Amino acid sequence: MPEHYDTLIIGAGAAGMMCAAHAGGRVLVVDHAKAAGEKIRISGGGRCNFTNLHAAPENFLSANPHFCKSALSRYMQWDFIELVDRHGIAWHEKTLGQLFCDETAKDIIAMLLAEMDAVGAELRLRTSVEDVRQEQDGFAVRLNSGPITCRNLVIACGGKSIPKMGATGFGYGIAEQFGLAVTETRPALVPFTFSQDMLTETKPLAGVAVDARASCGGVSFDEAILFTHRGLSGPAALQISSFWREGEDLSFGLLPETNLFDTLRQRRKSEGRRAVATVLGEILPKRLAAHLAGSLGLSGNLADQSDKALQGLSDALGDWRLRPQGTEGYRTAEVTLGGVATDGLNARTMAAKSVPGLYFIGEVVDVTGWLGGYNFQWAWSSGWAAGTAIASNG
Ligand code: FDA
Repeated sequence: MPEHYDTLIIGAGAAGMMCAAHAGGRVLVVDHAKAAGEKIRISGGGRCNFTNLHAAPENFLSANPHFCKSALSRYMQWDFIELVDRHGIAWHEKTLGQLFCDETAKDIIAMLLAEMDAVGAELRLRTSVEDVRQEQDGFAVRLNSGPITCRNLVIACGGKSIPKMGATGFGYGIAEQFGLAVTETRPALVPFTFSQDMLTETKPLAGVAVDARASCGGVSFDEAILFTHRGLSGPAALQISSFWREGEDLSFGLLPETNLFDTLRQRRKSEGRRAVATVLGEILPKRLAAHLAGSLGLSGNLADQSDKALQGLSDALGDWRLRPQGTEGYRTAEVTLGGVATDGLNARTMAAKSVPGLYFIGEVVDVTGWLGGYNFQWAWSSGWAAGTAIASNG
């Protein structure tokens, strides 16, 4: 006889563990990895940016931007902060509302495992799923460790990003097997790559970081960009990657907090005899200033520049266009954009509308957060929503 569980959760990541802690009844969490929460462990440079003080539906992308509202408003960043505090995990705000552990991301994993333990949820690692079938009262699932049956099946196996860490796209296959639509998926929060020709020009800039307003398709982010040996990274570049499509230009407003025209005009009064390229090198990183001076053909001293010329220079730096060749893809993407279509899911419970007992939570769903702790907040909120819905169904 197969073993019976009330709830089987596939994926011991952020969403799966959160759900397990709230689902009640007999719960089994399986994961093919050798440890739970591997993405939590490596997140935020090892300190896990576990939520954001400003998390709100506006910080998420989805074909249906309203879908995330219910879960995010019922399990909020404050709820997760309260949980973290209850476990005595010290944290700090780094920037822009982003909360990180003071010590290590492993504290968050230990906290979630303790929460699961407290309610008697079982965890089976190195366990893969060979087959899933719907039955009269739930599901029959063949694991490599043997068959089980369950009333509720929760798909929490994440997206396609970082295949080296076990990402498989398995959840999309389950959605399709049960007749649910999956929206187009693509790598997001991912560095850009440049063509060979562009790299020949920009390679000397590798390692240069500068504050910029990165824009594409009417959306902008103000943060640092970082030139790399292969293209462009840094928080503003990662953010805008979620909105960029192949063949589009990116626009960078350099030093968005500075009025460059006024600054250059002031300096023309006091330092008119200095070369415009030299002065630019004091406002921007030197290597970037030299590159821009070359590409914009800047010559002469500041005193030689008319207001029109300075305005032209300021405009050029305010809308510096670059066209990436592509992105680094799922190999390094932090998340997968798109996923299980939300119109097939109940926004309050994360349950599939057409398949009783089947739930999708976390990154596998077509809800993708900005960079900055938003994706974990979605994992916590959606995991909680499914868990509490299962618990209240008895
Ligand atoms: P998650 O990927 O966490 O878990 C899925 C689990 O399912 C994994 O344990 C996997 O092994 C398992 N699995 C997959 N297929 C399976 C199968 N077929 N059978 C069994 N098990 C299977 N977000 C954020 O908010 N703040 C941050 O600081 C960061 N930092 C960050 C850094 C890096 C390098 C990456 C790659 C990502 C981030 N993220 C992030 C994003 C964040 O990690 C991500 O959004 C969440 O982990 C998603 O949680 P899930 O539980 O949905 O999937």
